[in-house]
Amino acid sequence: MKHYLSINDLDNLQQTVAEALQLKKDPFALEHLGRQKTICLLFFNNSLRTRLSTQKAARQLGMDVMVMNFGQEGWQLEYGDGSVMDKGKSEHVREAAQVVSQYADIVAIRAFAQLLHRERDEAEEVLRGFSSFASVPIVNLESSVAHPLQALADAITLAENNTKARPKVVLSWAPHPKALPHAVANSFVRMMHLQDADFVITHPEGYALDPKITKNVPLVHDQEEALKGADFVYVKNWSSYTAYGEVLNQDPNWRMSLDKLKHAKFMHCLPVRRNMVVEDAVLDSGQSLVIQQAHNRTYAAQVVLKRLLEQM
Ligand code: CP
Repeated sequence: MKHYLSINDLDNLQQTVAEALQLKKDPFALEHLGRQKTICLLFFNNSLRTRLSTQKAARQLGMDVMVMNFGQEGWQLEYGDGSVMDKGKSEHVREAAQVVSQYADIVAIRAFAQLLHRERDEAEEVLRGFSSFASVPIVNLESSVAHPLQALADAITLAENNTKARPKVVLSWAPHPKALPHAVANSFVRMMHLQDADFVITHPEGYALDPKITKNVPLVHDQEEALKGADFVYVKNWSSYTAYGEVLNQDPNWRMSLDKLKHAKFMHCLPVRRNMVVEDAVLDSGQSLVIQQAHNRTYAAQVVLKRLLEQM
């Protein structure tokens, strides 16, 4: 694995989950692996879980950690080939990526979708720019279209809670006041393609995800129908993909409740807006796995860093 940009960069999801669960049992077992190695985390956007869990994971492997709020503290970067840099951008990603590679053995980057131009977001100019020009591995801490560390933490959480040979897992859209990116939903779908599960997506009209990612996953527009017999319900808002970045629907009937959830386990990547996306009663119940998911972010990051360090 050269970089970790997508959940599909893992050669074997099930084996990776098993290794992550081993690390969870004994987090400092490989403390020697990252000795005298440094990871640099570059944040172009806000974070709670990703920022703290990735630092914790790196430290448990014995690494030094540098964190930079690049969006606020770094030079404005240019990404275009052959650009005449006569406006606000001070540095090209060609130099920035090579320079950061002089200080760190692994670089991890968070750079969200802007939700203005679909093609531009799908081009992943920040992540692709760094991974093209850096001389060290790049880890995706959530890019325009993918959040593979979240998806790996979700796979770990599913493995810990699943009791069936073939569970039913539902990805259910939820209302939200702001336009949100597709990254979490995209990576969850990609991860579910690698699972032996009965996987269903439910969302209102106008919220179809990228068909290149959803492929043949069954779509049921009737949420109640989709939730029948569910073992796990992953709730997430995303803005429209076709009317790119628009909020077309805020219907509170799509909010998750205990009535709808029945006996299923509830999953969400967090942060979550209480009583907008999901009712208090769900989050405060024993059916909610959200804190366990957040905990597993550490072991998702740790197993990915372990893989990269083992190759050095
Ligand atoms: N789930 C997640 O990535 O959380 P943060 O945005 O707080 O890092």
